[in-house]
Amino acid sequence: MSTNRVQIFDTTLRDGEQVPGCKLNTEQKLIIAERLDLLGVDVIEAGFPISSPGDFNSVVEISKLVKNATVCGLTRANKKDIDAAAAALKYAKTPRIHTGIGTSESHIKFKFNSSPEKIIERAKDAVKYAKTFVEDIEFYAEDAGRTDNAFLAKVCEEVIKSGATVLNIPDTTGYCLPEEYGAKIKYLKENVKGIENVILSCHCHNDLGLATANSIAGVQNGARQIECTINGIGERAGNTALEEVVMILKQHPYLNLDTNINTQLLFDTSQLVQQHMGITVQPNKAVVGDNAFAHSSGIHQDGVIKNRETYEIMNPEDVGVTESSIVLTARSGRAALAYRAKNLGYELTKIELDKVYPEFLNFADKKKEIEDQDIHEIIKVCEILKTKVEA
Ligand code: KIV
Ligand code: ZN
Repeated sequence: MSTNRVQIFDTTLRDGEQVPGCKLNTEQKLIIAERLDLLGVDVIEAGFPISSPGDFNSVVEISKLVKNATVCGLTRANKKDIDAAAAALKYAKTPRIHTGIGTSESHIKFKFNSSPEKIIERAKDAVKYAKTFVEDIEFYAEDAGRTDNAFLAKVCEEVIKSGATVLNIPDTTGYCLPEEYGAKIKYLKENVKGIENVILSCHCHNDLGLATANSIAGVQNGARQIECTINGIGERAGNTALEEVVMILKQHPYLNLDTNINTQLLFDTSQLVQQHMGITVQPNKAVVGDNAFAHSSGIHQDGVIKNRETYEIMNPEDVGVTESSIVLTARSGRAALAYRAKNLGYELTKIELDKVYPEFLNFADKKKEIEDQDIHEIIKVCEILKTKVEA
C-alpha cells in the first residue's frame, strides 16, 4: 500500500502568536520561520498582514527568507485584507492566501447579522478576488465544527468552483468529538463536487483536549493537511500540537500517512519557541515535555533499564532528545539506584547495594529528587568509597 503524504501547515506565527504574552517581534519571527523551514513544514502561516504594520512587515520579511515552504497570509473575506496579504506575500517563492468566513448558524447570525446565501456570495467573491493575485488559495469555513454538514458542503462546492485549492475545516471552538470531526471530513469527501481536486485541511482547537485526536481522525478520513503549532500554542487552550500529530503518524506506520518533518529537530524547535514566546510547556507535555522520556517509579525504571521498549513507545533520539532519564525519587527501586551509581563510576555489589539503598530512601524521603551529588554523599555515608572507579 502506498504511503500518503500529509502536509504540515504551521500556524505558530499566526494562531500561536495571537496568544496574550506570546507576541514576537519581526526578528524573532524570522528566527522561528527559518527553523520551521529547516524542520520541513510544508506551509508557514506567517501572519495576518492587515492586522498591524508590524505583522505586515513580518510577512514581507518571512516571504523573502523562506526557501522551501509555502508562505501563507491570513485574511477575512474582504478586498482590503486580501490586498494587504497579496502585497505582503509579493516576495514569497510560493505564496498562498488564506481567506474565509464564518459558516455556522451562530457566526452567520451574531457575527455577520447575515444569511446563509449572502455568506456564500461573500465566500465566492473573496476566493475569486484572491485568485487574481496568487494561484494557491486556501478557504477557511470558520466554526465548521459547529456548521451543518449539508450547508458546509454547499459552501465548499462553491469556493472550489471559484478557485480554492485547499479547504480548511476548522473546529474553531474545539467542540467536536473525534468521530464527529472524522465523519464531517468523510461527508465532505463524499458529497462535494470537485473535492478530488483540492486538499482538505484540519484546523482543530484544544478547548476539550481533543485537537490532536480530531486532526488524526480528519486525516484518517481523507484530509491531507493538518494545521498546527509548535507546543500546541494558540488561542485559549491552544491548537493541535505539531510534534504530537507528526509523531503519531510516524509511530503508526500502518496508517500509511507520512509527513516531511525531520523529527530529530522537534525537541530543539520546541525549546526555541518556548524561549522566544516566553511560555514554558508543562513537564508532562507529550513528545517535548521535560518528563516525556523520564522514568521515576521503581517498576518502570527496572523495566526501562532492562529494555527501553518496556515503557517507551518512541525512541527519544527520534525527537532530538539524547536519552531517556532515570529520575531518582523515594519511589525508585534498587535497579535504578545501582544504574545511576554505575553511571557515576560506582560498581555496587549486591551487599553494598543492600547497605546503600535504605540510606538512599532516607535521603529521598526528605528531597523531591536525588541528584548526582546526593549519590556521592550517600555512598560516602555508607563508607563504601573503596569501590569507586574514576568515571
Ligand atoms: O480557528 C479558526 O477558525 C481559525 C481560522 C481563522 C482559520 O484560526
Ligand atoms: Zn484557529
